[in-house]
Amino acid sequence: MFTFFKSQKQKEVHLDQVPKHIGIIMDGNGRWAKKRMQPRVMGHKAGMDALQRVTIEASNLGVKVLTVYAFSTENWSRPEDEVAFIMNLPVEFFDKYVPELHKNNVRVQMIGDSSRLPKDTIDAMTRALETTKHNSGLVLNFALNYGGRAEITEAMKAIAQDVLDAKINPGDITEDLISNHLMTNHLPYLYRDPDLVIRTSGELRTSNFLPWQIAYSELYFTDKMWPDFDELALKEAIAEFNQRHRRFGGV
Ligand code: FPP
Repeated sequence: MFTFFKSQKQKEVHLDQVPKHIGIIMDGNGRWAKKRMQPRVMGHKAGMDALQRVTIEASNLGVKVLTVYAFSTENWSRPEDEVAFIMNLPVEFFDKYVPELHKNNVRVQMIGDSSRLPKDTIDAMTRALETTKHNSGLVLNFALNYGGRAEITEAMKAIAQDVLDAKINPGDITEDLISNHLMTNHLPYLYRDPDLVIRTSGELRTSNFLPWQIAYSELYFTDKMWPDFDELALKEAIAEFNQRHRRFGGV
């Protein structure tokens, strides 16, 4: 349906089917900066530009949900000044990037434990969520202070409490019920689980990113550092996705 040409080699990138939900582990910002003799935080700044480009392109292609791993529960162990810089990114994000996203009908949402986030970070994210809440286009879903095992643990506690309160029986616990207790339960039912997960920078792990939701996702790894990931790179990942045959355990 979509045909694109790579700028230099003019190689065709043909996209038959666009994944409805793409998850991205945006890795390699620090290494990208180091290679340029810049402080690591400059990599995060360039990473924001990459995120903006990719979000607009994904929206143009018809992707419904883009869930991006912006900060994991393990990232607190980074140097204090780097954590402070990342925590300030939502403030910059709101001023510099949200207006264009809003114009493109993008809706911003968030998953993760916001209780540990600084007030300014929460305020900026809340403003982004509020400003875009009536938009009906792509959902840009930030995983911020997110950890998949913690998410599943919290879901289990809530379900156990419902059993204890005799609201449900253990026999009522189904995969759907568990899915309804995860942080992604605000997403449209059909698009809750990523069809495709992209990880940049050559690391071959999923690092506690949506462990329940990506059980059947296609995984795509690229050596590109996140700040170098662009529109063409996204289309190449989708073209690769089109080559895979998703059988969901069937034949
Ligand atoms: C991983 O690279 C990247 C991050 C931990 C942060 C990514 C965040 C953004 C790109 C923007 C988020 C935007 C908002 C609004 C919250 P790394 O530092 O682990 O790179 P390295 O592996 O090379 O060290």
